[in-house]
Amino acid sequence: MKDIRVIGSVSMDLVVESERRPGAGETVIGSAFHTVPGGKGANQAIAIAKLGGDVEMIGCIGDDANGDIIRKNFESNGVGTAELRTVANERTGTAHIVLAEDDNSIIVVQSANLHVTYPEAELARLLQGAKIVLLQLEIPIETVKAIARHAKRQGIPVILNPAPAVLLDPELIEDVTYLTPNEHECELIFGGGPVEKWLEAYPNKLVLTEGSRGARFHDGTQVVTVPAIKTTPVDTTGAGDTFNGALAVALTEGKTLEEAIRFANKAAGISIRKLGAQGGMPTRSELEAEGIE
Ligand code: RIB
Repeated sequence: MKDIRVIGSVSMDLVVESERRPGAGETVIGSAFHTVPGGKGANQAIAIAKLGGDVEMIGCIGDDANGDIIRKNFESNGVGTAELRTVANERTGTAHIVLAEDDNSIIVVQSANLHVTYPEAELARLLQGAKIVLLQLEIPIETVKAIARHAKRQGIPVILNPAPAVLLDPELIEDVTYLTPNEHECELIFGGGPVEKWLEAYPNKLVLTEGSRGARFHDGTQVVTVPAIKTTPVDTTGAGDTFNGALAVALTEGKTLEEAIRFANKAAGISIRKLGAQGGMPTRSELEAEGIE
């Protein structure tokens, strides 16, 4: 298997563009509809592959047309699919996205992503030889916990992107190496309290992403802010996934956490210039062509 393991969700994004989102009980006329591959796990794997990382996608699709499109998308981007399981008589996950008023709102129907579970005996094999593991929360939480626990035992670093956010067990937080919420997710995973308190409590682990303001972490002495690049957003869907994928690539290349966040901020900043979670993800040469690492 490849060096970087993404264990997580794979979905088809059903995207509606509209001037404004409807309120409860209301119907509005939209302006466009797109079907594009997505899912937080899949997006992170594609971001890694585009940036030159050696990446394996571990997850599940259904035995439907969306699953076929998604498998081909991984293959054409060079993502390993040996552990991408097709579940019989199940739909591929879908994300129902409204782009309106300069932001997105998303409902995820997990479907095949609920089948991303492994017997204990399988976990060591899935993680063997991994340089880093990426996890998110669109698959069963028990799987996330089991993988984080095993990875810690095997000395493999883990990035947990806690999205969509839920209150996290302290044991899970202990087991992961990096935790990458946005401000809203930070509140939910810790159950409230000022973000500064949590940054200090988890130095060199908690990386708080703050959109156009960049990202912050505590280096053990002080809070370090790594600014975002200036860019004009078209669609911010998948920016967090690009950030996490790029962070994994940079860390496996031996960059310091601060350097890795700078690299990830730049990749995420470029990714939001085009529509679709994966549509704007930069290749390594696109990053370099802009004079960016
Ligand atoms: O992070 C963006 C992703 O979240 C979308 O691609 C959609 O699939 C949702 O899961």
